Amino acid sequence: MSTATEKQFDQGLVNTIAAETQMSFIDGEKGILEYVGVDIDSLARNSTFEESTYLLWNGRLPNAAELAAFEQQLRAEYELPAGVLDMIRAVPADASPMHTVQTLVSSLSLFDAEADDDSPEANIRKAIRLVAKTPTLIAAFDRHRKGKDIVAPDANRSIASNFLWMLRGEEPTETMVRALDVCLVLHADHGFNASTFTSLVVISTLSDLYSACSAAVGALRGPLHGGANEGVMVMLNEIGDMSKVDEFMKGKLERKEKIMGFGHRVYKAYDPRATYLKTFAEGLARDTGNLPLYEMSKRIEEIMHEAVADKGIFPNVDFYSATTYWSLGLDLDLFTPMFALSRMSGWTGHCIEYLKDNKLIRPGAAYVGPHEVPYVALGDR
Ligand code: CMC
Repeated sequence: MSTATEKQFDQGLVNTIAAETQMSFIDGEKGILEYVGVDIDSLARNSTFEESTYLLWNGRLPNAAELAAFEQQLRAEYELPAGVLDMIRAVPADASPMHTVQTLVSSLSLFDAEADDDSPEANIRKAIRLVAKTPTLIAAFDRHRKGKDIVAPDANRSIASNFLWMLRGEEPTETMVRALDVCLVLHADHGFNASTFTSLVVISTLSDLYSACSAAVGALRGPLHGGANEGVMVMLNEIGDMSKVDEFMKGKLERKEKIMGFGHRVYKAYDPRATYLKTFAEGLARDTGNLPLYEMSKRIEEIMHEAVADKGIFPNVDFYSATTYWSLGLDLDLFTPMFALSRMSGWTGHCIEYLKDNKLIRPGAAYVGPHEVPYVALGDR
């Protein structure tokens, strides 16, 4: 058993390995990401969000019958409980979508008779519900806040197609569905990132999946994590056009300000999730009349490459997902909810995996305050 003096202080847990996992492997130096051994680029090019989720949860790719059965299980859970729909109608129209998503993910527990059943079977059913219902609640909230009728989910559609259908109330094109699906595959899992680790801390107390995932949504919304893709778009809009990119970047770099969508705690090489997305984002931007935004992004990447590549700072997945979501016509404040929708797959998978060999997560604290301070009575202070 380790004693307090043997514990290593590790700010930000940068050098700490907290648990084992068979879900995703990251080599930050070489720029490799694999889901259960399958490299992310192959998955982005060939897989779907449903298939990648099956892979992450089951440790192998499904055959055709297994995939069809899994898709059916998910589709059967697209609908929201009536009580959650009532709650959505009560959310203020100007509420922040991430606060709303966090509240609504938590609210799903109120209408699930299995919320506190921590058997592995019930946890898998709840994981399916969480992955299937999160798109519905995001789309329903967006319709509600715009004063539009909520569109019921369509169980004949994939998660990506169904989400765009519910959000827009009109048929999405195949390119749009594919673009969203690629983003969902790329964001589904990523080791013990801050939100996944948050979900593990919660589940390690033997709490429940709804609590773990709503806490994870809270961690994801920060600008150093999931909020960065929104930050990228804010930056691109602030710059305005290509002629202003160089000057804007010069100022930012001189002031040593961080550029959203660059850098990563783990990757010190090109983020492998950004490679295919960059190519994909270009085609989509061209098709949707957003090429100038893509060109600006490319110029920012060139400037950053010259300035900070030697420090191991490259574009991360959020840099090009920003232009992708924008080209899909998504509101800026829905970018991070898209991340949550996808990462729900990773959060639930990791929680279920962690519970197989649970250990309460409880690090030590390096106390740096005073000792033996006398208690002075209130009247004497
Ligand atoms: N722009 C400019 N300089 C940067 C950036 C950036 N985006 N990121 C890191 N640096 C510099 C930083 O200034 C520091 O320089 P110095 O050593 O001279 O002080 C050095 O690189 C190390 O930075 P750090 O913030 O201490 O490193 P970290 O491992 O704690 O940071 C990070 C990782 C993701 C928080 C950081 O790179 C960052 O803030 N990036 C911008 C936000 C962002 O895009 N986040 C999305 C991450 S990918 C999606 C996800 O997984 O959530």
